Amino acid sequence: MTAHRTQFVPSRRHVIAFASALSASAVLPAHAASTMPTRKIPKTGEALPVIGLGSSKAVSQIGTDGPGALTEVLRTLAAHGGKVIDTWPRNPENDAKFGQIINTPELRSRLFITSKIDRVGKDEGIAQFREAQKAYDRKTLDLMQIFSLTDLATHWPTLRAIKDAGEARYIGATVSEDKLHDQLEAFLRKESPDFVQTNYSITERKSEAKILPLVQEKGVAIMINRPFMNGAYFSKLQGKPLPAWASEFDCKTWAEFSLKYILAHPAVTCVLTETADAKHMAENAMTASGRLPDAAQRKRMAAYIDEVL
Ligand SMILES: NC(=O)c1ccc[n+]([C@@H]2O[C@H](COP(=O)([O-])OP(=O)(O)OC[C@H]3O[C@@H](n4cnc5c(N)ncnc54)[C@H](OP(=O)(O)O)[C@@H]3O)[C@@H](O)[C@H]2O)c1
Repeated sequence: MTAHRTQFVPSRRHVIAFASALSASAVLPAHAASTMPTRKIPKTGEALPVIGLGSSKAVSQIGTDGPGALTEVLRTLAAHGGKVIDTWPRNPENDAKFGQIINTPELRSRLFITSKIDRVGKDEGIAQFREAQKAYDRKTLDLMQIFSLTDLATHWPTLRAIKDAGEARYIGATVSEDKLHDQLEAFLRKESPDFVQTNYSITERKSEAKILPLVQEKGVAIMINRPFMNGAYFSKLQGKPLPAWASEFDCKTWAEFSLKYILAHPAVTCVLTETADAKHMAENAMTASGRLPDAAQRKRMAAYIDEVL
């Protein structure tokens, strides 16, 4: 795997400022000043940190729990050199509060914001894009995607026009279920997206068959969703022992086990981990910095999972 360094190197002052802003439950580790490994977006060469945040859970909790947890998660991601946040507008009140958080001076210029269209119809799609611009207070979003290939034939020309107008830097489409892989493959063969998103983890490996080799061949960046099967991964593995040989690639937890398996695939650009817990965000972010399994170790990991599940 080729790991590239981000250009932004947090100063000691930055890290101390972030650390003091965090609650005692999310104290930054001593080496939080180090930058996160990055991978290049094939179409431009821009470097992207390899662990991002799937914001759905934390944003949906704003309504009941307030913005504190999400603020801590975002500060933790940024303090570890991360910047990618996957979103899509749904609840206007929560989205407005989310917009305020990502536009605080300490975060605004450091984030890579992605959003999605999940409604049917041309006008609906454009309206949803405008809502994202407004909620996130950005004329230009970093990445605009079509959620789960919804009304793809209608929205793809819209996204191309949005990119041509300079309102999105990159465009693409997402899936999160194996049953949509054939359609995603057809889209990749026909069009030239900058990014796609797919489900992939140590327990959901279907993307290895066609999607991951195809994005490598076509020079398309790929973000990974469902690294923990939206949390089901942890209940499936509850009570199962992490193999002792996982320490050979610096793996101490089941979360690291899936993330390291994903990150060791050379096609992967960035993994989106969803969390409302700053400690989990820190754990996920730091996973990118240790050793990754080689090809033989990855085979052993997959065989072990097949054996215990
Ligand atoms: N079609 C689409 O476009 C699509 C569909 C699905 C997902 N996505 C994207 O992918 C993102 C992530 O995928 P996902 O939603 O399936 O979630 P996921 O990352 O697979 O799993 C999230 C769950 O794992 C827990 N978790 C996270 N880190 C942990 C850690 N280190 N230790 C223990 N538990 C941990 C979280 O709970 P805590 O809050 O307690 O940490 C949460 O319950 C989404 O947020 C979204 O951005 C896109």
